[in-house]
Amino acid sequence: MPGGGAKELIREGARNMAKQLTREASLLRKGAAPTSAWAFLNGEFVPIADAKISVMTHAFNYGTGIFEGIRAYWNPQHEQLYVLHLHDHFERFRQSARIMRITLPYSVDQLCDVTLEVLRRSSYHEDSYVRPIAYKASPLIGVRLHDLEDGLTIFAVPQGKYIETERGISCCVSSWRRTDDNAIPARGKITGSYVNAALAKSDAHEAGYEEAIVLDQQGHVSEGSAMNLFLARNGVLVTPPITDNILEGITRRSLIQMARDELRVEVVERTIDRTELYVADEIFLCGTGAQISPVAEIDHRTIGDGKVGGLTQQLSRLYFAAVRGESPKYRDWLTPVYGRAKAAA
Ligand SMILES: Cc1ncc(COP(=O)(O)O)c(C=O)c1O
Repeated sequence: MPGGGAKELIREGARNMAKQLTREASLLRKGAAPTSAWAFLNGEFVPIADAKISVMTHAFNYGTGIFEGIRAYWNPQHEQLYVLHLHDHFERFRQSARIMRITLPYSVDQLCDVTLEVLRRSSYHEDSYVRPIAYKASPLIGVRLHDLEDGLTIFAVPQGKYIETERGISCCVSSWRRTDDNAIPARGKITGSYVNAALAKSDAHEAGYEEAIVLDQQGHVSEGSAMNLFLARNGVLVTPPITDNILEGITRRSLIQMARDELRVEVVERTIDRTELYVADEIFLCGTGAQISPVAEIDHRTIGDGKVGGLTQQLSRLYFAAVRGESPKYRDWLTPVYGRAKAAA
């Protein structure tokens, strides 16, 4: 191609990208960090604008990274930011790293300390979301996990609701299947595997639904795009077992504990058929990002009477009080970011 033609093509491409950015600026920036945010990158705290990696980075080319999503809740009365299940998230981070043969240069306690420092430096006084990523960092071409350097970053962004938590949402059963444990293990929070979740989520969104529910290769219910699933039938809570291609959710584990201890409700971990969704009395999705999201409708079938069910309501009330530091019993779920909490129990 003659030089002039190529230059014009490049200019036109840049003009089109700039136009898209202006038109969709607010949508494209949803979930972005403010310029005042800080990141931890390969051993140093740096302003977010300086936290950069090469286009050659192995994980950027092949999805060879592992990550976590950790929420921190602001309590205005306590003037405190509480990080939820900080230690548990980094325990899972270590497990994902083991699956992906990534060596972490820090202990779980050190990773927790770095996270608290990122939040302090970013000065967040609002609900926030922490994103640690450990990744194959070598700037080279070649598909493998061995003989590569590892990198680590932790940053945080302000984060409100990820999906609806008060009214029931509409879902579809996705035509995409969950990746199998012997393909890309759902047990690991692997960056590349979120293509599976993104395919399901966007197809659901474009078909007019708010979330996707994904079946595994055997046709059993696994989870939502990035959240675990519970249903209630005849007063019993049911959720897929960890052997049915789900992420071993920390929120899922916490809600099982709460349902048993506080509501004295039986919780059963067992395989769920697709049509059990249609006949359930209640369904909700849960996760760090999603929190607790009631489901009102699946594939145009109303769940229960279409309103938020009784068990879902009770669990939501207990959960949201606990995560904001308002339940002394669950105070050990939380790590305060700033000095001493004012009125903390
Ligand atoms: C695929 C998937 N399932 C479930 C969950 C819920 O897990 P947790 O409660 O640990 O956040 C998440 C994310 O957070 C997820 O990405």
